[in-house]
Amino acid sequence: MNKGLPPIPYDRMKDQIEKEISSFMEKSGQWDQGMMPAVSYEQGATKISFILPSLTDRGLIEFLGVIKSHIANVRVHSFEDGYYAFQALNQNMFSTENMLDNIKFEFFSLSSSSRAEITKKGELSQEEVNVCIEMFRKAHSSQKESPHVRLRKLGASLISANADMTWDYIAGYDEVKRKIRESIVLPLQNPGVYDSIARKTRRVFESNRPRAVLFEGSPGVGKTTAARVIAGEVDIPLVYVPVESIMSKWYGQSSQNLSGIFDACEDMGGAIIFLDEIDSLAGSRNQNMFEATRRVLSVLLRRLDGIDAAMKTVTIGATNRKEDLDSALISRFDQTILFPLPNSAERASIFSNYAMHLGPEECALLGERSDGMSGRTIKDLCEFAERRWARKIMAKSLEPSAPPIEYYRHSLRVWKDNQ
Ligand SMILES: Nc1ncnc2c1ncn2[C@@H]1O[C@H](COP(=O)(O)OP(=O)(O)OP(=O)(O)O)[C@@H](O)[C@H]1O
Ligand SMILES: [Mg+2]
Repeated sequence: MNKGLPPIPYDRMKDQIEKEISSFMEKSGQWDQGMMPAVSYEQGATKISFILPSLTDRGLIEFLGVIKSHIANVRVHSFEDGYYAFQALNQNMFSTENMLDNIKFEFFSLSSSSRAEITKKGELSQEEVNVCIEMFRKAHSSQKESPHVRLRKLGASLISANADMTWDYIAGYDEVKRKIRESIVLPLQNPGVYDSIARKTRRVFESNRPRAVLFEGSPGVGKTTAARVIAGEVDIPLVYVPVESIMSKWYGQSSQNLSGIFDACEDMGGAIIFLDEIDSLAGSRNQNMFEATRRVLSVLLRRLDGIDAAMKTVTIGATNRKEDLDSALISRFDQTILFPLPNSAERASIFSNYAMHLGPEECALLGERSDGMSGRTIKDLCEFAERRWARKIMAKSLEPSAPPIEYYRHSLRVWKDNQ
């Protein structure tokens, strides 16, 4: 089993493990005596055990990778929910003689903490010591990564402030903007004011700031855009979480990853979490998906308002199918902000954002004739007009200029005919 390498005397082995691991923890800035492996020799067997910061499916696969890279043949001894064990086989894979004396790797996942335990009759070879050290490093390597890196790996991204993204970018919607300012922006800009009020009113102090707000509205009415503007207004990071892609890309892993996202945000000292397209949690198409959805939902319910509630984060969810969402989830949001389809005057003002060369009457006319359109449709329509105009300019070798109003009228007609 030990590929010809002789076992190392116990004391030397213990010394080596302790030295390597404390130097690793020091270097990665996570020195913690309580995390040091417990190494012992009892009744003729070596035992090494250490705490795992977490035990995820992905982590388990990584451990198996480490084991396989040092030990030729292993078998799965147990693969139950919460208890996984791998055992080295004999050099001759088919001989089972004294097989249970070979090195064994056990992983326990408990609700309070997880643990790895490595046991072997007698002493370990250098190869086997290396497995233990490498496994410890793997288990703790995600810890030393910055929250930003962790977020990226988990499929979330940080939206940074963009000077061009101010409230003026969103035309109309004064009522929506006012509500967002009141419920999200002001409390984040002046937390002290809100806390002092709560201290004067509550027998037991608790925050009166909203923790979760839901943006509801048809596709293309500016929900995601509003989140980008908020990112520029407040001084804390905005973490964009595309729920749909977390659900499909990470599948069985999605609930742990969502937890990891909330943890990373807390480690950053607080953030706004923007859960975009939260409706992907609504329709559960097949049984497997149903299970994954159920687990993600339960993480969300706990995180939004429960024992694991994130203390420093504000969550914004966006949906265009609120009626399909789980009612327990909806109830976790302190407030819903409805983004209606734009009215005629707002449509005119959206046109003037994307076709600023047109006069107010022209925009008003386009606004009147575009009933039922969202901001996105209007933007697309303006692009369509510009592209047609560009082709004409090139065909006739004209000087570049902005499209005349007829081009927008034409785009409107094409759009209506396609409805
Ligand atoms: N009131 C508005 N003024 C200017 N642009 C707008 C307005 N509403 C929407 N848009 C533009 O339409 C596009 C789509 O908006 P956004 O992605 O924010 O919509 P959404 O509500 O998040 O849609 P979905 O539900 O499909 O995700 C963006 O490019 C945005 O700039
Ligand atoms: Mg969106």
